[in-house]
Amino acid sequence: MPVIRFVREGRDVTCYPGENLREVALREGVEIYGLKGKLGNCGGCGQCITCFVAVEEPVTGAATLTPRTAVEERKLLKRPENWRLACQALVQHSVIVVTRPQVALQDGDRRLAEAHQQLLPEGPTSWPVVEAPAEPEEGEATTTTTDEGLP
Ligand code: FES
Repeated sequence: MPVIRFVREGRDVTCYPGENLREVALREGVEIYGLKGKLGNCGGCGQCITCFVAVEEPVTGAATLTPRTAVEERKLLKRPENWRLACQALVQHSVIVVTRPQVALQDGDRRLAEAHQQLLPEGPTSWPVVEAPAEPEEGEATTTTTDEGLP
């Protein structure tokens, strides 16, 4: 599975290929919002531009995230090229990101260098195969619930 390396938080988080970066961050308790975004955000619609992340160079040479969406092209016109809206980005391969890049990263050069030194798995792999539940054998008791006999 791809790994998202959150440099500011010093955490590696695994996810499935195609997962939304914002949703993975929220699920894992990674704070992607600054004060403005905490006070109010669009919930992932690409309208509030409070979920910035800076994406470091691809580790594997492959595209780590899906390309910028049309919304991002409009909203990020005056931002650095490696900035993305987390809510618009789907993870394809392992990636290194800096959340809230508008806030200085303390000791940033050293932390970024360390983040690049430690290898990430290449990813992606496929979603797990979920096997369908087995059909009950003929004559096998099945559990059903009814409300017969209830007062
Ligand atoms: S959450 Fe509003 S733009 Fe991403």
